[in-house]
Amino acid sequence: MKLFDVYPINNIEPVKALGSTIWDEKGQEYLDMYGGHAVISIGHSHPYYVKKLTKQLKSLGFYSNSVKIPLQDELADKLGKLSGLKDYCLFLANSGAEANENALKLASFHTGRTKVVAFTKSFHGRTSAAVAVTDNSSIKAPINFADHVVFVPFNDVEATKKAIDKDTCAVIVEGIQGVGGIQVATEDFMKAIRTSCDKTGAIFIHDSVQCGYGRSGKFFTFQHYKIKPDIISMAKGMGNGFPIGGILISPKFQAKHGLLGTTFGGNHLACSAGIAVLDVIKKEKLVENASEIGNYLFSELSKLKDIKELRGQGLMIGIELTESVSEIRNKLLFDDHIFTGVAGANTIRLLPSLALTKGEADKFLNALRKYIK
Ligand SMILES: Cc1ncc(COP(=O)(O)O)c(C=O)c1O
Repeated sequence: MKLFDVYPINNIEPVKALGSTIWDEKGQEYLDMYGGHAVISIGHSHPYYVKKLTKQLKSLGFYSNSVKIPLQDELADKLGKLSGLKDYCLFLANSGAEANENALKLASFHTGRTKVVAFTKSFHGRTSAAVAVTDNSSIKAPINFADHVVFVPFNDVEATKKAIDKDTCAVIVEGIQGVGGIQVATEDFMKAIRTSCDKTGAIFIHDSVQCGYGRSGKFFTFQHYKIKPDIISMAKGMGNGFPIGGILISPKFQAKHGLLGTTFGGNHLACSAGIAVLDVIKKEKLVENASEIGNYLFSELSKLKDIKELRGQGLMIGIELTESVSEIRNKLLFDDHIFTGVAGANTIRLLPSLALTKGEADKFLNALRKYIK
């Protein structure tokens, strides 16, 4: 049987990894400045994480949401404390798209409305409701185009205020657009969404799948602006590679048995991975590290004149050049052995582990300086 060929892949086969280092099958070492699309938060194969997951697997790997799973409560408790959102409730799912799917559904259940305001260059996942609010028609099948979605220019305060009305069910927005090219939402824009949602009863959904979990130098990006969304979706960094996603739900929502559900969401292994990630983020002060090393990278990168625009927060950085970054990325990967990401054609996307060291940041900077001045 062959694989359904949907991914363009690099001719590299990683077989081992530790922290921000990856080794391929020939023993070649690589620096990981991408974390497999922002997934590796605490570093590859962190010993504490490996120990916790191994121990859990040896005792119980899975049982469904029909029995007591205290690991879910432990995860919720630790997440509430670390994120500062103790009064929110947690619903666990398995991926970013699924988290957004549940967020949109919950908003619609709550308001009884259908209209959703989304933004240009947004990416929210590939499942039905999530892809409908994603601004990329090439990944929508005919059944995914939805009349109820209105796209408004990202960061356009006036257009956003106008679009949110009494028919609006929800507004969904990334704090920092990832796939859209590391575009940081402005404070005025975020505050306008909050105010308009309060006026109209629409639900403010903050997609933190890529920008959340400490990546921006705060646990969630909206915490840079002191506003609070109604629903926050999360995934990627939450499990450091183990599939887990979820939504944080503000106290305004009422739970009801059967309202949301999933077979795999919140399983024992996923919760163990999620707890291990939170324990390490707290113990090793990784949110603070993301801020410190992110600021260092940002200030060093700002000295390069060839960069057209530098965007981001913490360890979520976009380096836009005036031309395609494909050749530079290939050189970084195959000559310097450094993984980076891309957004659009001209932007290098950096999403390394939150535990990236200054030495590792310097290694990347030294390599990049060979190609841009
Ligand atoms: C902001 C954002 N939301 C949602 C998703 C979808 O997540 P997943 O691929 O886990 O379904 C992504 C994935 O890149 C994302 O960046």
